[in-house]
Amino acid sequence: MGKIILDNLINKVEDMPILPDRISKIISLTEDPDSTIKDLEKEILMDQSLTSEILKLANSTYYGYARSISTVSEATVLLGSQAIKSLVLASAVSQFLIKELPDGYGLEKYALWNQSQSCAIISRFIAKKLKYPKAEEAYISGLLRDIGKTILNYYVAKEYGTIINKVEKEGKTFIEAEEETLGFNHGEIGAKVAQKWNFPLALVESILYHHSPELSETDPKLVSIVHIADSITMMLGVGLGNDGLSYNFSEFALKTLNLDGEAIEKIIYEATDYLNDRDSFNIVVS
Ligand SMILES: [Fe+2]
Repeated sequence: MGKIILDNLINKVEDMPILPDRISKIISLTEDPDSTIKDLEKEILMDQSLTSEILKLANSTYYGYARSISTVSEATVLLGSQAIKSLVLASAVSQFLIKELPDGYGLEKYALWNQSQSCAIISRFIAKKLKYPKAEEAYISGLLRDIGKTILNYYVAKEYGTIINKVEKEGKTFIEAEEETLGFNHGEIGAKVAQKWNFPLALVESILYHHSPELSETDPKLVSIVHIADSITMMLGVGLGNDGLSYNFSEFALKTLNLDGEAIEKIIYEATDYLNDRDSFNIVVS
């Protein structure tokens, strides 16, 4: 049965909306070493809501600038192109997750979105703390790692109910329950979406392997950061209830990042502070 559902779901993923042209253009500009801040600014200014979100972010306490930032060019210079990329992707994906999918699971949809933002913030926090050079990649990976759950929630609602039941009543992990019910897990489906949206390979892998970082090949550090942030998010109980109790840290991830129990405790303590800063949250177009 699992195989049929997976094929079916992959076909549905094929039919999903692609990212709007402007978003793809901005993302490729942020990755092109020959592009200038002016090119980026021009593209951003064509989108009113993105312009206001970027100004809002630049003025948030997260970035902590003493003076107020009133133009997109100042904001792009201050935030840097990688932060702009995170913001643009977060905005595009949130529109897809919150707006494109029809109502019916509204509450859960927002819970999943809040949880994703928490994981993104914690991923970036860990990346910076460990001096991993691509902190914004970590943010995006954390934001998207559970995108497969949204797809399942919507496209296989009946089976999704069975999965939740197994987690809540039988104490299974989410991954175990999914594999028993469907024959595959949300990482696999999420990675299909990321491939469809032409995301970089490291990002696809961090979605695919966030529950099994030892399988990653492209960037095991990134996948390990997302795995640890995901486990912390679940432990802190941000989002979807009982699943949080059944999470463990992978030995591989702890070793890859050179973290011990004490370091993890410290991260949890500090990350909680970050999550309490509401300005780090809801940076997306609403
Ligand atoms: Fe997950």
